[in-house]
Amino acid sequence: MSQQKSVLLIIGGGIAAYKSLELIRLLSKGGVKTRAILTEAGSQFVTPLSVSALTGEKVFGDLFSLTDEAEMGHIELSRSADLVVVAPATADLMAKMANGHANDLASTTLMATDTEVLIAPAMNVRMWDHPATQRNLATLKQDGVRVVGPDEGDMACGEFGPGRLSEPAVIADQIFSYFTQKAGPLAGKSFLVTAGPTHEPIDPVRYIANRSSGKQGYAIAAELSKLGADVTLISGPTRLDAPAGVTRVEVESATDMLLATERALPVDGAVFAAAVADWRVANQADQKIKKQSGGDLPDLALAENPDILATISNHAEKRPSLVVGFAAETQTVIENAQKKLAKKACDWIVANDVSPETGTFGGDQNRVHLISKTGVEDWPLQSKADVAKNLAQRIADHFGE
Ligand code: CTP
Repeated sequence: MSQQKSVLLIIGGGIAAYKSLELIRLLSKGGVKTRAILTEAGSQFVTPLSVSALTGEKVFGDLFSLTDEAEMGHIELSRSADLVVVAPATADLMAKMANGHANDLASTTLMATDTEVLIAPAMNVRMWDHPATQRNLATLKQDGVRVVGPDEGDMACGEFGPGRLSEPAVIADQIFSYFTQKAGPLAGKSFLVTAGPTHEPIDPVRYIANRSSGKQGYAIAAELSKLGADVTLISGPTRLDAPAGVTRVEVESATDMLLATERALPVDGAVFAAAVADWRVANQADQKIKKQSGGDLPDLALAENPDILATISNHAEKRPSLVVGFAAETQTVIENAQKKLAKKACDWIVANDVSPETGTFGGDQNRVHLISKTGVEDWPLQSKADVAKNLAQRIADHFGE
């Protein structure tokens, strides 16, 4: 696996809970990081201390813990992993999941997650065979929940039949193959995405910046990753969290962004969504510039920044096979973007109107035109999330051709 994957493991209350410790160990051996939620019932069978010793992380347990929520809210927790695994999944947890209950941290997290879920049921054979459990199982499968096991065999309660938790090695294998064969049209393809503004220092405390929020680039990185791609997000300063499964490299200036971008090569595709500052301060001061008495103003000389998109598009050895640029325009949007496509030698340009009345910069909506050498497509006004989804799909179609 090229980048470290992470699992959020929900440990339900059952005699098989002790096997979750072995699962954590196997995952960690296979390079998968685990963060765990221990349900109240689960903590009757394994201690938070053993779980935390194996995950190397604190264990989450209480929905209403102020300290936990301050460190990582339950919504963030639910999105912090590449896969949510419930092992053991008790009859009660399955019932909660199937019916949308959210009354503790585990069930709330399962409701809030946008990540795929794998459950490993474990319970007494009669509980497993009960029509209610079978009904819940059918609902969960319909909801897209993946299921491993249960196994058949001798049970702790003395009975025999299906209901035993699958062996940790089997569950771990399912998780590993989920990650490696992650079904998606871009599985096995690598991408880099630039996003956000750059900060160009004037002196150690001041900088020149722009109003880019980074939302569009982050959404594209997230969508490419959802389609199975291995994504490196090279981001200027933003307030956004790194999307799950994406490797983020944080940079400040355009010069740093170019270096990080070159380091991320080779990749199959590159999307340049960053609002890179065109200029940097040539005479950047080592010390804070003091205000002069008498009203003398500092003389800021500017130098042109490297054009990252053009540099990568013209890369002699490592040009990605698909290079997508953005064009932020305030007038004659399509014409200017077509000129940019030719000048920067990229394959596609996503052109958007960023004049203040459109609210594009910092906002959630975007109206774009997808421009290639062969034509112009006008996309309707839609959320940046939908622009990202549609663009990622177009990219997947391109690689599938
Ligand atoms: N870009 C880049 N490096 C730069 C400037 C821009 O990689 N130094 C990329 C942006 O990420 C975007 C595309 O080039 O994908 C176009 O950016 P835009 O700001 O619209 O164009 P500029 O080249 O800055 O041209 P102008 O400001 O004159 O419109």
